[in-house]
Amino acid sequence: MTYVVVENCIKCKYMDCVEVCPVDCFYEGENMLVIHPDECIDCGVCEPECPAEAIKPDTEPGLEKWLELNAEYAKIWPNITVKKEPPPDAKDWDGVPDKYRKFFSPEPGEGD
Ligand code: SF4
Ligand code: F3S
Repeated sequence: MTYVVVENCIKCKYMDCVEVCPVDCFYEGENMLVIHPDECIDCGVCEPECPAEAIKPDTEPGLEKWLELNAEYAKIWPNITVKKEPPPDAKDWDGVPDKYRKFFSPEPGEGD
């Protein structure tokens, strides 16, 4: 089991999650983060920290696609352990549907 970052992180990218992870297993893309499923110890402390409710346990149904995406991009995006300034319009994107299809970026973020 692991926790996974899901669609609503895209363009919200608050980064509150990285501050609480005891094993530093978040990785940064241009407009979202992912969790490395082999590094996550399932402690669950990040889930309630996300203002966008974009972190879920992989025991929830229907998250296979997101688990795959987290695993794939955690291998190639840089590690992030310190919260940065979220996008100025993060609030406007909270809950917007279809963000993956319209806005997902495979580009890496800058990391720490
Ligand atoms: Fe890190 Fe715990 Fe969240 Fe896994 S569940 S990403 S170990 S804070
Ligand atoms: Fe994304 Fe929530 Fe973290 S919006 S960056 S998963 S705090």
